[in-house]
Amino acid sequence: MIITLASFKGGVAKTTSAIHLACYFSKYGSTLLIDGDPNRSATGWCKRGALPFKVVDLMQAPMHSRNYEHVVIDTAARPNREDLEALADGCNLLILPTTPEALAMDALLQTVDALEALGSSRYRILLTIIPPAPRQTGQQARDALNGLPLFQQGIRRFAAYEKAALEGKPVYEVKDRNHMIAWREYQDIGKEILK
Ligand SMILES: Nc1ncnc2c1ncn2[C@@H]1O[C@H](COP(=O)(O)OP(=O)(O)OP(=O)(O)O)[C@@H](O)[C@H]1O
Ligand SMILES: [Mg+2]
Repeated sequence: MIITLASFKGGVAKTTSAIHLACYFSKYGSTLLIDGDPNRSATGWCKRGALPFKVVDLMQAPMHSRNYEHVVIDTAARPNREDLEALADGCNLLILPTTPEALAMDALLQTVDALEALGSSRYRILLTIIPPAPRQTGQQARDALNGLPLFQQGIRRFAAYEKAALEGKPVYEVKDRNHMIAWREYQDIGKEILK
């Protein structure tokens, strides 16, 4: 299965989600993460520490991808319409992460409109970095996205992810009191994908 993460807005947890979904899939079969972002955030994450799967650059991908059962592709924010069309066409599932903030939700709805205009329906929305109540909550965002394909599980905001990125590890290897709660949320997303 090929899974791509994309968003018009930056900083909505594409890379964090790509890393942790690749962690999840690596428990079930050989998994490759393709770093399609010129910022090389996923590559940097891997180089700072160790991850349980291989990370390659977009230009290396053709050599490697056929040898893997699962491929996760991280992409740069702000794809143009042609980029989006190619992204949607090049995967089995396009995951659109968004935070619950109004600006991110606006950008997400634009992405959805663009995908619908392209006739693409293989996408699902993932709510990420959900702050604790009483800020704009996951539930309010969920209501606003009513009728659109949305993962049941959302990803809450936990400091453990920042530590994971800094240390170059998956969140479950970080010393933090919430590390396993955080990991369970991505495991639930993985289960929803495989269902
Ligand atoms: N669930 C979370 N809780 C707390 N912080 C998070 C969470 N997910 C991601 N972050 C942090 O939010 C920031 C943005 O995350 P990330 O780099 O994964 O987003 P991105 O969409 O890939 O960004 P870009 O568009 O720049 O590539 C990072 O500092 C990351 O550590
Ligand atoms: Mg990124």
